[in-house]
Amino acid sequence: MHPHHTVTCSFSAPEPACSEKNRIYSSEILLRFNIAALSPFIFHSFSPPSPAKQVLLALSGLPPPSLHLGIASAIAPPSATLLHRASLQATINSKKMARKFFVGGNWKCNGTVESVSKLVDTLNAGEIVSTDIVEVVVAPTFIHIPLVKDRLRSEIQVSAQNCWVKKGGAYTGEVSAEQLVDLGIPYVILGHSERRHILKESHDFVGQKCAYALSKGLKVIACIGETLDEREAGNTIKVCAEQLIAIKEAIGENWSDVVVAYEPVWAIGTGKVATPEQAEEVHAELRKWLAENVSAEVAEATRILYGGSVTAGNCKELAKKPNVDGFLVGGAALKPEFIDIINSAQIKVAA
Ligand code: PGA
Repeated sequence: MHPHHTVTCSFSAPEPACSEKNRIYSSEILLRFNIAALSPFIFHSFSPPSPAKQVLLALSGLPPPSLHLGIASAIAPPSATLLHRASLQATINSKKMARKFFVGGNWKCNGTVESVSKLVDTLNAGEIVSTDIVEVVVAPTFIHIPLVKDRLRSEIQVSAQNCWVKKGGAYTGEVSAEQLVDLGIPYVILGHSERRHILKESHDFVGQKCAYALSKGLKVIACIGETLDEREAGNTIKVCAEQLIAIKEAIGENWSDVVVAYEPVWAIGTGKVATPEQAEEVHAELRKWLAENVSAEVAEATRILYGGSVTAGNCKELAKKPNVDGFLVGGAALKPEFIDIINSAQIKVAA
C-alpha cells in the first residue's frame, strides 16, 4: 500500500481560467497525492489551466526533498496536464482533506489483564490503513495504560479517559495531567457524557480540565452532546454550543491540540446510532460555531468526531459525510470490528 500525503499549493493570484470549483480554492488548493514510487510520475487531475504565477508549495509528509523539487517544477509550467518523473496521482480536494481521519476507542471501565491483553493482540494482528490517512488512539483504564502502552503496536496511540483539573497533590483517586505526560501518554478524553451526567462534571469544570491538560502538553478529545430530552426540545445546537463556550472560555484560541467528539447522549451505549444526516447536520453546525466564535482556520482544521453506537456496520455511511472526521467508539472498540472502523478512513481517501 502506498502512503498518502497531503500537499497544499498556494497561488499568488486568483486564476480566472480555473473552473468554478477550483476558483473557490484558487488561493489555496489542496491536493492529495498518492505517491506510488520515485519512477516517472504523471501529474494529472489538475485539469483547469494551471496558474502559471508563482507556485508556493507547502508540503507535509513528503520525505525526500528531491521529490518536493520534482513536484514544484511539475506544477510551475502553465500547462493543464503535466508530466514529470515519478508515478503520482493527484486529485483536487477541498481543504477538508487536511483533517486526518481520527478513530478513538474508549474502553471505559472495562477489562482485566487477560481481556485487555487479548484485545491488544487482536489490534496488533489486524490489518489497518496507513497512519498517513488515519490517527488511532485507544483509551484503557488508568491501571491498564502501562500494559497497553508496552504491548500495543506503535501506530496506535494510548489515551487516558480523564485527568485531574489541576496540578496533582492531595486529590485522592485522581490522576494528573503531569503524570500522564510523564508516562508518555499523548491524549486524554475529557467531558465524556458519563462524567458530565453521572459524576456531575459541569461545563466550566470540563473547560478548566481542557485548559490544564493542554497547558501540560496533552492533546484533548473534548466530548459534547445533548440528551434525548434536549434534542426533542430542539435544543441540540444550543446545548452543544454551551459546552463549547465553556471550553473556549478556558482555552481561548488554542484549539490545535483539540479533537471535538460529538456524542449524543441518547446514542451512547444504546445501539441507537444517529443517522448520517443527523450527525452531519450537527457537525456542520459545530464547525460553523467554531468559525464564528473562534476562527475560520480553527473551524477548518479541527476534527469533529461522531460517537454513539458506532459499529463496523454503520461507520462507512457516517464516514462519507463531509463534516464527520472520525469516530469515538465505546462498545465496538472492545471487539475485533474496531479494525473495520479504523479502516473506514479509506472512505475519505476514495471520496
Ligand atoms: P458507544 O460509546 O460506542 O458504546 O455508544 C461511545 C462513547 O461513549 O464514547
